[in-house]
Amino acid sequence: MTKVLEQYRVFGNPIAHSKSPLIHGLFAEQTKQDIDYQKVLAPIDGFEETVRGFMAAGGKGANVTVPFKLEAFAMCDVLSERAKIAGAVNTLSFQEGKIIGDNTDGAGLVRDIVVNAGFIIQEKRVLLLGAGGASRGALLPILSQQPKELVIANRTRSKAEELKQLATSMSELRTEVTAASWEEIDGPFDLLINATSSSLQGERLPLASTVFGKQSLAYDMMYGAERTVFLQFAQDAGVQVRDGLGMLIEQAAEAFYVWRGVRPETEYVFKQLREGAIG
Ligand code: ATR
Repeated sequence: MTKVLEQYRVFGNPIAHSKSPLIHGLFAEQTKQDIDYQKVLAPIDGFEETVRGFMAAGGKGANVTVPFKLEAFAMCDVLSERAKIAGAVNTLSFQEGKIIGDNTDGAGLVRDIVVNAGFIIQEKRVLLLGAGGASRGALLPILSQQPKELVIANRTRSKAEELKQLATSMSELRTEVTAASWEEIDGPFDLLINATSSSLQGERLPLASTVFGKQSLAYDMMYGAERTVFLQFAQDAGVQVRDGLGMLIEQAAEAFYVWRGVRPETEYVFKQLREGAIG
């Protein structure tokens, strides 16, 4: 008898280079979950229709990537707390005709930093670079680690200020949160997270090397075969660096957990992707 596999998808545009099917395929194999996970190119003007079609055909859940995370957020019937604060959805679950939205990006980032890199965020000085969607998604998971201080710095200062307002509206905030322009950044920081898209453009952020301390960790949400400009700058300053490959895998593991209730082991997936054995 052939097994009926439960269906999952990742929707994006472009989507050809997505590693999500490989990652979820490895998770499914490892945890013996009978799922089928495929990538789908959704038309720019037809995201919602594509998702609803998949749901009507019996799909169980989906990941959502660029540029549809805001549209995904808007079409959900129910939202998790972290999705509400992120203002974006990367994980959809379909249950009894309802669309449930979650956001696992920030949790993936924090898990990669705390568990995989072994860096404790609690009581540390953290610099978050950027104030777009990626930063917003990281806000709640970072604050839940109770750093001593969080400075949100952005090229457009007003956007950093908006994120600061959002952060300070959260209850039980134990962290001092401030907004800054590049010029106002006052180092050193223990943890520096680049959530701007400057690495995609290969542009260097106007930071002085005094932003780093001796034990700092510099993290770039981007990843690739080449070191990003930000991580090269950090490495030249002699600090520990980490790119966003672990975040990619951990956000996937968190989505897998949301759907299947099982947390997959991520270390060997990380090694395989890093060594280019797959993908
Ligand atoms: P994402 O969803 O990836 O966060 P976004 O919402 O468009 O994308 O946000 C991009 C972020 O990268 C913003 O903080 C942007 O700064 P501005 O608010 O000033 O636009 C930042 N960014 C993009 N390119 C940059 C560059 N070359 N130098 C500095 N910051 C840059």
